Amino acid sequence: MLNFIVCGIAGHMGGNILELLKDDGQARVVCGVDVKKPENFAGKVFSRFEEVDVKADAVIDFSSPACLADELCYCTKNGVPAVIAATGYTPAQLEAMKEAAKKTAIFRTANFSVGVNLLVRLVREAAAFLGEKFDVEIVEKHHNLKKDAPSGTALMLADAANSAFAQKKPYIYGREGMTGARGREIGLHAVRGGTIVGEHDVLFCGEDEIVTLSHSARSKKVFAAGAIRAAKWIAGKPAGMYDMNDLLGNP
Ligand SMILES: NC(=O)c1ccc[n+]([C@@H]2O[C@H](COP(=O)([O-])OP(=O)(O)OC[C@H]3O[C@@H](n4cnc5c(N)ncnc54)[C@H](O)[C@@H]3O)[C@@H](O)[C@H]2O)c1
Repeated sequence: MLNFIVCGIAGHMGGNILELLKDDGQARVVCGVDVKKPENFAGKVFSRFEEVDVKADAVIDFSSPACLADELCYCTKNGVPAVIAATGYTPAQLEAMKEAAKKTAIFRTANFSVGVNLLVRLVREAAAFLGEKFDVEIVEKHHNLKKDAPSGTALMLADAANSAFAQKKPYIYGREGMTGARGREIGLHAVRGGTIVGEHDVLFCGEDEIVTLSHSARSKKVFAAGAIRAAKWIAGKPAGMYDMNDLLGNP
């Protein structure tokens, strides 16, 4: 039986992880880390990683960037792999993950759905096929509680499109006022409202034609299931940085 620590256990995603692992024959939640108390977990919940006195096969982190330093310290010190699912990290924090990956296994993706990871590949291919002349615009829609914008997935999609261009395009986050004609850029736009789980549209706008590639998540369960799959996969893996391409296989 694999033992997982869930960071952000009292949150929406933490709840989904608990629900899915309730009847799992291969893995269980051994403890949680959260500043809040979850309603449906009888085990130990620590408010900081510093206090964790439990051994585990992996950490699943659906909390916030505020937990990262503490968590990486625990994981590298104890040789515990981490599946980092939260979003909104700074470039310095992404560097810190790479540094930690020299000592333990770190799995990071802004989106655990298989469908979005297919979308990333299709966007890369579409950008390469359509070329520079098609303007790329990304519209993402999420629930009204989401803290970061644009979504980590939107940035992942922008990076995928940009990887097809020899000279990288800068990102423009929304537009307002007298912006003038559109430049050589990728536009990212965040819509927030109600209970939208996660919608991503990537528009390739050419002369007299538009290609739209899109993904719609209908429940948060899809992300929780992906993170659990990643945690089972990464348990016992050597130090290094891993992502969905490692889990799903490279094309
Ligand atoms: N990678 C993916 O596929 C994916 C999918 C869905 C959500 N997410 C990301 O996961 C994160 C959580 O999403 P959510 O909807 O469950 O949010 P949420 O606000 O419902 O839950 C976050 C939980 O983390 C806890 N937390 C926050 N900061 C903390 C800290 N410093 N120390 C201890 N606990 C802390 C909060 O108390 C809360 O219980 C977000 O960053 C979201 O963007 C990623």
